[in-house]
Amino acid sequence: MKYVIGNWKSNKSEEEVKIWLKEFAGAVAQNSQVKIIIAPPFPFLRLAANTADQVTNLELAVQDLSPFPAGSYTGAISTHNLEGLGVKYAIVGHSERRRYFKETNQDVANKVERCLEAEITPIVCVDDDYISSQAFAIKKEYLTKCMVAYEALGAIGSGQSTPVDKVKKVYGQIEQEFGSVKLIYGGSVTSQNVVDYLAISDGVLVGEASLKIESFLGLIER
Ligand code: PGA
Repeated sequence: MKYVIGNWKSNKSEEEVKIWLKEFAGAVAQNSQVKIIIAPPFPFLRLAANTADQVTNLELAVQDLSPFPAGSYTGAISTHNLEGLGVKYAIVGHSERRRYFKETNQDVANKVERCLEAEITPIVCVDDDYISSQAFAIKKEYLTKCMVAYEALGAIGSGQSTPVDKVKKVYGQIEQEFGSVKLIYGGSVTSQNVVDYLAISDGVLVGEASLKIESFLGLIER
């Protein structure tokens, strides 16, 4: 089973989301080899959840979540807020969160804990530089409960995906630090290169190519 995870980031209006979901539900083929996960912006989780109820191999992720439990944390989305929406995965520590929102390894470790308390699988994103510091911040007993996505900074949104050999090497490092985990690759994944990455990974994390329904379905088809 391979994972194809679409991360929409801050893109799409409600109208655009409705169109995407309708086209997706109408066109996606039944495929037991691929688990499709989409991570829409928070306001559209209910809409996406309704589609996930109808499409058997579609599941939901959030792009981020609060490092705190439910409580007085204005603006934060806790796992309690997500109850009933069928969210099974959470992307945590994406480099855009680290870069623009100053997230630290400890924040990411706290988010991992919140996820696991709520039976949500954390998809921890790492770049070369912080594989070991990130693993160090996460409690030992939680490490193998994570999925780990390798996303080199220069590969994200650039069209310059990381060479497969390099990804393989980094996976060795990730396994040393995290143990046996599901290994994901992210960074300029397209329908042209997805097969190469899936040959060495458990799945791919797709930004740009998940936005347009044709490119996302094309990639899944491959
Ligand atoms: P990209 O984004 O596919 O647009 O490079 C990947 C990501 O940020 O996870």
